[in-house]
Amino acid sequence: MIDTNRGYGYEVSPWELRWKNLDLDALQRTESTFALSNGHIGLRGSLEEGEPCGLPGSYLNGFYEEHALPYAEGGYGYPEAGQTVVNVTDGKIIRLLVGDEPLDLRYGNAVEHERWLDFKKGTLSRRTVWETPTGRRIQITTERLVSFTQRAIAAIRYEVEALDGPIQVVLQSDLLANEPVESDTTDPRVAAALRNPLVGDFATMEGFRAVLCHHTRRSGLRIAAGVDHELEVADGLHTETHVEEDLARLTAAVDLPENGRLRLTKYIAYGWSGQRSVPALRAQVDAALAGALQTGFEGLLVEQRGYLEDFWETADIEVDGDPDLQQAVRFAIFHTLQAGARGESRAIPAKGLTGPGYDGHAFWETESFVLPVLTYTTPDAARDALLWRHSTLDKARHRAEVLCLRGAVFPWRSINGSECSAYWPAGTAAFHLNADIADAVARYYAATHDHDFDRDAGAELLVETARLWASLGHHDPHGGFRIDGVTGPDEYTAVVDNNVYTNLMAQKNLREAAAAAERQPEVAERLGVTSAETAAWREAADKIVIPYDEVLGVHPQAERFTEHAEWPFKDTPPEHYPLLLNYPYFDLYRKQAIKQADLVLAMHMRGDAFSDEAKLRNVDYYEARTVRDSSLSACTQAVMCAEVGHLDLAYDYLGETALTDLHDLHDNVRNGLHLGALAGTWMAIVAGFGGMRDHDGRLTFAPRLPRQLRRLTFHMCFQGSRFEVQLTPEEASYRLISGDPVKTAHHGEIITITADKPVTRPVPPCPPRQAPAQPTGRAPQRRTPRG
Ligand code: BGC
Repeated sequence: MIDTNRGYGYEVSPWELRWKNLDLDALQRTESTFALSNGHIGLRGSLEEGEPCGLPGSYLNGFYEEHALPYAEGGYGYPEAGQTVVNVTDGKIIRLLVGDEPLDLRYGNAVEHERWLDFKKGTLSRRTVWETPTGRRIQITTERLVSFTQRAIAAIRYEVEALDGPIQVVLQSDLLANEPVESDTTDPRVAAALRNPLVGDFATMEGFRAVLCHHTRRSGLRIAAGVDHELEVADGLHTETHVEEDLARLTAAVDLPENGRLRLTKYIAYGWSGQRSVPALRAQVDAALAGALQTGFEGLLVEQRGYLEDFWETADIEVDGDPDLQQAVRFAIFHTLQAGARGESRAIPAKGLTGPGYDGHAFWETESFVLPVLTYTTPDAARDALLWRHSTLDKARHRAEVLCLRGAVFPWRSINGSECSAYWPAGTAAFHLNADIADAVARYYAATHDHDFDRDAGAELLVETARLWASLGHHDPHGGFRIDGVTGPDEYTAVVDNNVYTNLMAQKNLREAAAAAERQPEVAERLGVTSAETAAWREAADKIVIPYDEVLGVHPQAERFTEHAEWPFKDTPPEHYPLLLNYPYFDLYRKQAIKQADLVLAMHMRGDAFSDEAKLRNVDYYEARTVRDSSLSACTQAVMCAEVGHLDLAYDYLGETALTDLHDLHDNVRNGLHLGALAGTWMAIVAGFGGMRDHDGRLTFAPRLPRQLRRLTFHMCFQGSRFEVQLTPEEASYRLISGDPVKTAHHGEIITITADKPVTRPVPPCPPRQAPAQPTGRAPQRRTPRG
């Protein structure tokens, strides 16, 4: 069943994403949706033959090139160097000559062609029946994986079968550095940095194994990429090998009889370092290849499936009543895992490792959107991402010094921990990122009780970010603690006073830091934290200013926001969105147009600071002014609409966040997936319809099923226990899967989930609500599940 009624091309299926038929125009976006990654290696879903290709991409987390940042007018404290993710040595390419025709799907006839991403197996597969321009047919089947269990390894199995009588086939398996990439950057310096970014150091090929070592010119990082091969064919095989600085090639030629097959298994290994030598990196990839060959392709498949079986037991969400949504939800969870699984002390970029968008930088959504999901599904991955932040603490301390502040200031966008944002109002001034990191640290600790992490990294992150707030804010003459001149999550306002989101997150940060300093006296002593300092943090937290508009009865997202002029939404034509591409920032900044949830996000993350009445009034007020020009908004709107009882609207927003990439809603999926929106899909379900909250480290639920669904079941883990929550229109059932009993709450009633039998409670009816309006033309698409 092809999803033709909606025209997005994927077949609807619960555990896979399948695309049938050849559609070359869609190649670039399916390269992103079909990307494979383990958080360390990322391979876009390009066709094996290398061409036609939308945008080739093989990435290694943390591997980047540096370039100068463009400023028409410089200024004190502006970051000087930018970083851009590099398309590294490509090991995916397997070219094929059939008779004397190169397989190129732009020519001849793709009689049958399908590709599918399997969420349980963790593989991308393909089957193509191709008729050469001279009318000879062959079938190609491929399967590839990026291993979750062998972090340095990817592997491809490629099989070609002669369908019409004897024919000669020649395979060329390449390892190619500096492959040409079209860049859509407008900055010539970035384009120059990315043209032939790799300088050759060493190249070797022995037998079927090759290793190429390179380094980058400016960032000085070294990379080794290796391949090894297994060939299976009846007989008559001729092979050749060739190696030069940027290319290693194994060629295999054979005459295939009718229905004869040639099968190539290719193992690809990567290693990179800023410090290790060429011989050390070469040894590393040689060892990784030896390990992979010893496991074998079948063995890698078995390991991959085992890893995912375990993952889905903790992370699966079953959606009964909306098959498109079911697929989109598993797609979202799968890619969230892929982005973080084996990052191991590296960042999780906004696009994961699925494309070059945002230059491969990580932003605040890692901590605010992605880590909550990983914390409750694969906590080790959340820990590792936080360890990356911790490893960059010295840079963040230095940045604080440059900005004449105390503690640590983490970068708004970065690959290596140094600030790369050249636009300070939406970069440097977006200090909330530091509280977002602290929030993720506190959540991870509460959800795992990982004392080693707390002692070695968590407490220090909390302390240094709290010091920032203590120095950035000040006590005013009226007894309040103010944080002025900052940018909140909504980037259509900037450099504002007392942004509610920032202040509430800073408040939590200050309190968590005081608690951590008491919990970890040795860490506190090492960092010179005194009792006077923790008392000052607590006092600042208690006195933090939270603006409120008494006349309208709502919270302004920052001081005086509700007094700003309204944006003329009625006169804004649909083609003028996103507004940032059609109106000057100065005008956006002084009016009430909201790019993405800000105050509404505050009500999700710090829901404990708002009354139920305030939440309802605020949701309605901000719904009317939020345009969702960022993909980081719909999920938060889903969560809060669900909480206040706008269930239909919450469902529409869930649909929007879940289909952001599959339906290419922002028209840029070719550059990579939107990790925040994908993780936000989990959030919209678990925190939205499940009503999951974790204020003060206590896990609670207040579930309600939208009328469009018959049942919703989600899994998660907390303090080492795994459990399942199943929701029907009438009741919620909590069942322990493994581990100790879990103490939680259902709509305010304390319950304990034990191994004996599921705890089942009725779901209270939803109060009748009048749905709020959105800006003209910006309502989410009404979601009607097909039957
Ligand atoms: C959003 C930011 C986000 C960035 C990267 C922007 O459009 O406004 O909040 O961090 O994209 O995803």
